[in-house]
Amino acid sequence: MKLKLKNTVLSNIAFVGTLAMLSVSSPLAAEEFFTIKGGELERPTGYREWVYAGTPVTPNDLNNGKAAFPEFHNVYIDPKSWAHWKKTGEFRDGTILMKELVSVGSKAAVSGKGFFQGEFLGLEATIKSKKHFPKEPGNWAYYSFSSKDHKTLSATAKPFATASCNACHATAAADDFVFTQYYPVLNAGKGTGMKASGGHASDLQNSYDEPKGN
Ligand code: HEC
Repeated sequence: MKLKLKNTVLSNIAFVGTLAMLSVSSPLAAEEFFTIKGGELERPTGYREWVYAGTPVTPNDLNNGKAAFPEFHNVYIDPKSWAHWKKTGEFRDGTILMKELVSVGSKAAVSGKGFFQGEFLGLEATIKSKKHFPKEPGNWAYYSFSSKDHKTLSATAKPFATASCNACHATAAADDFVFTQYYPVLNAGKGTGMKASGGHASDLQNSYDEPKGN
């Protein structure tokens, strides 16, 4: 009996110890999906498994052969900021959006003529953080990991000067410097809760229900 009690106490201590370790490491990991060290952003990983926002494309073919950004832009938002966005319709402090550049590959498929995604070409990011960027407009900073030849990605990146990136975002973006008007997932999901993720089984049920009394 005595031994049993002692074991329970010991295992409780071990359990509390584990909890303490978890609470030291998890809040940070859960809060922010990026690491900035010595003023440089480490290239985020795992972002293709974040929440997909949308894919603008401004192909050369529609811009006299010389588009400023001729590739597809696949945009993702970190899951914690997505949860906040669909609840409140705002970007929380600590939001990171990744923009992955993808070439225009084929221009015809069995479905018809069009623009189809080809190869990965580059990676950019924008982060909203009061702590890191107290003086930037909206606390947003902008980064690129793309090399000039679009063949490699750097391991870290320094933020661009405000003037090189922010101006367009400040004047033309629909929501807090972010071009949500071109990201249907963010646009439709703004503050719409459960509907933002594609609805709920009970919604489908309701919409196909025969109206009562018929
Ligand atoms: C000529 C105007 C313009 C400039 C300058 C500009 N952007 Fe953007 N940016 C856009 C537009 C428009 C979009 C959305 C449509 C698209 O991706 O083509 C966008 C989207 C983004 C996104 C996706 C998230 C969001 O905020 O919508 C990132 C990340 C981004 N830009 C990074 C940068 C970086 C880094 C620079 C500076 C090197 C930069 N931008 C400069 C116009 C601009």
